[in-house]
Amino acid sequence: MSQGKWTARIRRAVLVAAGATMLATGLTAQAAAAPPPPTPGEVSPQVVGGTRAAQGEFPWMVRLSMGCGGAMYTKQIVLTAAHCVDGTGPETGITAIYGVVDLQSPDRITRKSAYVYQNPGYFTAEGGDWALIKLASPIPGAATLKLSTNTANDSGRFTVIGWGAATEGGPQQRHLLKARVPFVSDTACEAAYPSMIAETEICAGFPQGGTDTCQGDSGGPMVRRNANGNWVQVGIVSYGAGCARPGYPGVYAQVSALASAIAARAAKL
Ligand code: ARG
Repeated sequence: MSQGKWTARIRRAVLVAAGATMLATGLTAQAAAAPPPPTPGEVSPQVVGGTRAAQGEFPWMVRLSMGCGGAMYTKQIVLTAAHCVDGTGPETGITAIYGVVDLQSPDRITRKSAYVYQNPGYFTAEGGDWALIKLASPIPGAATLKLSTNTANDSGRFTVIGWGAATEGGPQQRHLLKARVPFVSDTACEAAYPSMIAETEICAGFPQGGTDTCQGDSGGPMVRRNANGNWVQVGIVSYGAGCARPGYPGVYAQVSALASAIAARAAKL
């Protein structure tokens, strides 16, 4: 691997860590620029720039107690981001909330974690910001989200969802938010993030900013409907410079490139 990639990786880790620290300390971030108002006629009106998800709209969506999102991959395994977890091994300290858009709802279903697998490739030039959390017991009847294995889904408009901050530096949300963001080419994304790993990362956002995932959305899915009209997961919320800033799209783990490794590991959990 090149020296450049390593340096860039460290720089990116600092970026992500700074975000995590902000989240932990609750400090108010100084937004570099106020997000522009939504373009009139854009479907995505005001995550950042999002609207509330309806109960049952994204049934496989999970909130994790360390302040991340996730998606049910099987009835007992949650797919999240590598940077949301501490390593690989037995882990009973994470709680997953399933089945509600309102995290305070008495209808919520909770499960403790039993085991965590963190993709070791995440710490190499290969990248791949994904991790699997095996729950202590399955959630009977849980909805699951299929991974996109087809690069044809790596285009168009995506839906992002999460309980993360609705403004850069803002608080976590009680109600699940959703927003739509367009695909951004690797070339355009590399212009914003020179360390971006084109093979295992995919970017999304409007050139003018205004709509994006943000701190606390990490690990959650970026989805779209495939040719058959079914939701498939094309991304995992990974990082960005601030949130919804013009010229800085959100960066996501590219599921189509990672799906076979994720499936193989999940089968062994
Ligand atoms: N790393 C962040 C987290 O831990 C996610 C940031 C996503 N940022 C963005 N601008 N899309 O929650």
